[in-house]
Amino acid sequence: MSSEYRFERLRPLRATEELRQQNAETVLEVSDLIYPLFVTLGSGIKRPIDAMPGQHQVSPDIAVEIVGSAVESGVDKVLLFGLPQSKDAVGSTASDPGEAVQVATRELKSQFPELTVITDVCLCEYTDHGHCGIVTPDGEVDNDATLPLLAAAAVSHADAGADIVAPSAMMDGQVAAIRAGLSDAGHDKTKVMGYSAKYASSFYGPFREAADSAPQFGDRRSYQMASTQSDEAMLEIEADIAEGADFIMVKPALAYLDIIRRASERFPDMPLAAYNVSGEYSAIKAASSNGWLDERTSALEMLTAIKRAGSDLVITYFAPQAAVWLGKTG
Ligand code: PBG
Repeated sequence: MSSEYRFERLRPLRATEELRQQNAETVLEVSDLIYPLFVTLGSGIKRPIDAMPGQHQVSPDIAVEIVGSAVESGVDKVLLFGLPQSKDAVGSTASDPGEAVQVATRELKSQFPELTVITDVCLCEYTDHGHCGIVTPDGEVDNDATLPLLAAAAVSHADAGADIVAPSAMMDGQVAAIRAGLSDAGHDKTKVMGYSAKYASSFYGPFREAADSAPQFGDRRSYQMASTQSDEAMLEIEADIAEGADFIMVKPALAYLDIIRRASERFPDMPLAAYNVSGEYSAIKAASSNGWLDERTSALEMLTAIKRAGSDLVITYFAPQAAVWLGKTG
């Protein structure tokens, strides 16, 4: 029986694995990945993070071991978060050259000169109240008073050898303040990756256990964006670019693929990173450990989707594992 309707034959394009690979529009590569690590001072420390199976809080020597094996698999970029020795109201330890991020940066750069070390610049891990900035007596986060502290932290990371500093506090003007601070300190080569469009997200839950950074009162909704916003994300990104950011970011990734797509189309010349956050990682880990999802294929599908949406770089706790799955490149 012949149909009066014409139709295209698209199935032959995907008939074999070879054809599927040849026709792939999106190819996820190890060089797209950035591996986040949680560092603390000491030696021989490797404390499992319950809410993030497979991830640990590590001392700098163990960070060198873990990064060493990731490097073997082709991972060449890491992002460091610090667990400080002490906390206070103004996050003083954030810019201490003897603190974990600074020490680990020095160690990693001396062991792996080719490794790109990115450092998270924020106060939430360093303040006793857990907010990303200074808090006024009436409980508000003081934007402008926070800026010099973020700049000082960034300078101390650059002093330690960080290649890229990544401010995640969502304070207005943070990229400009950090740029000025770096320039005054003679760090003109240090790059800035703005966490430009960072949403207030439930998907950060496991991270707050990992980084011991949960706010002790209130929440972050007065500085992180609401999930209802899309145009506002473009304004945040524009502001970061105007302030001198070298990289822009959308965070989280999976629930914000439309924002990644818009950003990549609107700012095609800017390298765009997307943060596949802790909750996105832990959800796959939990489901796969119950046998409800296949870990390898679901993780690779998720990472490929984030790249397909338009991101150039994907920050993910799956990085070392994905590197092994993808096979070494380069
Ligand atoms: C700190 C910061 C957070 C994350 C990265 N930097 C937590 C937050 O804003 O509460 C989340 C990362 C993740 O969930 O993997 N400002």
